[in-house]
Amino acid sequence: MTTVNVKKWKIICVVGARPNFMKIAPILSALRESPIDALLVHTGQHYDQNLSASFFDQLNIPAPQKHLNVGSGSHSNQIAEVMKRFDPLLVEEKPDAVLVVGDVNSTLAAAIAATKRNIPVVHVEAGLRSNDRAMPEEINRILTDQIADVLYTTERQAGDNLLREGIPPQRIVFVGNVMVDTLRNNLDRAKPPRETLATAVGAPIDSALPYGILTLHRPSNVDARDTLEQLLQTIVEASERIQIAFPAHPRTLARIEAFGFLPLLSRGQIGLLPPLGYLEMLGLMAGAKLVLTDSGGIQEETTALGVPCLTLRENTERPITISQGTNTLVGTDPHVVQQAIAEVLSHGAKQGRTPEYWDGNAAKRIMADLVNRLAGETQQ
Ligand code: UD1
Repeated sequence: MTTVNVKKWKIICVVGARPNFMKIAPILSALRESPIDALLVHTGQHYDQNLSASFFDQLNIPAPQKHLNVGSGSHSNQIAEVMKRFDPLLVEEKPDAVLVVGDVNSTLAAAIAATKRNIPVVHVEAGLRSNDRAMPEEINRILTDQIADVLYTTERQAGDNLLREGIPPQRIVFVGNVMVDTLRNNLDRAKPPRETLATAVGAPIDSALPYGILTLHRPSNVDARDTLEQLLQTIVEASERIQIAFPAHPRTLARIEAFGFLPLLSRGQIGLLPPLGYLEMLGLMAGAKLVLTDSGGIQEETTALGVPCLTLRENTERPITISQGTNTLVGTDPHVVQQAIAEVLSHGAKQGRTPEYWDGNAAKRIMADLVNRLAGETQQ
């Protein structure tokens, strides 16, 4: 006899850009074990094979039920397109809630569209604040949190930020970090660095020797010619001490080419790679002596792995990676960056510890809380 699995509630989960995919994977698995039916919508903010499809393949994320195909554009255009294309789906599907993750343009756009239809918004990774409003993601974070009905946080300080902004405490739940759920679930499947590094172009990177990783994609670092030139110059000098693997985001590579910086890069011991799949990047990070980055997610992943991270920004929205993890905020001043690299090469990682609830169970906590809330609402 076959049993039909009738789900009680329907939630639309929205993803759009690379950092969303590793966050949604464990949430979808947890929801599969629950009375909630999860519908996945991909906005299409990222569309390249190696920024999007490869994550679905490697992390066994089911194909989205709906693809909005918004593509690239100015931020306003991108947000407006997602809202326009998502709205009819909300009317058609009438979900009990819309769940958004992270801080990309798709996150904010889907949250606004849902709230305009009086559909409750659930925000995973709420409350992070860089306090830098020039950063596009900071605006996305603040606005999404203001209209969200349930806010799940990765660190306790995020909850304090939300309370300060007037969010009622009963909406905020500290659950831990879903990105770390994914990291723990996949560490034993991570690809050996040797295979990944063999594909680098430019200088060959010998995986038997210590290597560092560079990732850059923030507009504040890559869009202005002088800033990018100074940063690359600093990395070229640093590569005299340690070979550097550089998986370049399409935005960054486009700027490097447009500004004519490929010859500058070729002066260093730097191996250029395309954007990597999740398992390739995880393996590369796990084996690295240090990571230089302006990414938010990588600050967390290196803390979870215990690998030293030097963040090439003036601020971070993830302070726990500094107070408890292996991250150090170094900014972009060449002298400070070089000193920090020298320090890591001679003394290794800061003594850190795994932050509270970064234990691989964050998605399960989210699922349990959501089911409780939905059951509570049904009873009212
Ligand atoms: C976006 C997110 C950022 C996240 C990053 C991860 C916002 C505001 N920014 O930034 O928070 O850390 O993703 O990558 O949402 N492009 C491609 N292929 C693609 C997608 C984009 O080549 O599949 C190129 C396009 O030229 C595009 C540019 O990258 O114009 C920037 O893409 P966009 O999605 O606007 O922002 P990201 O810099 O990727």
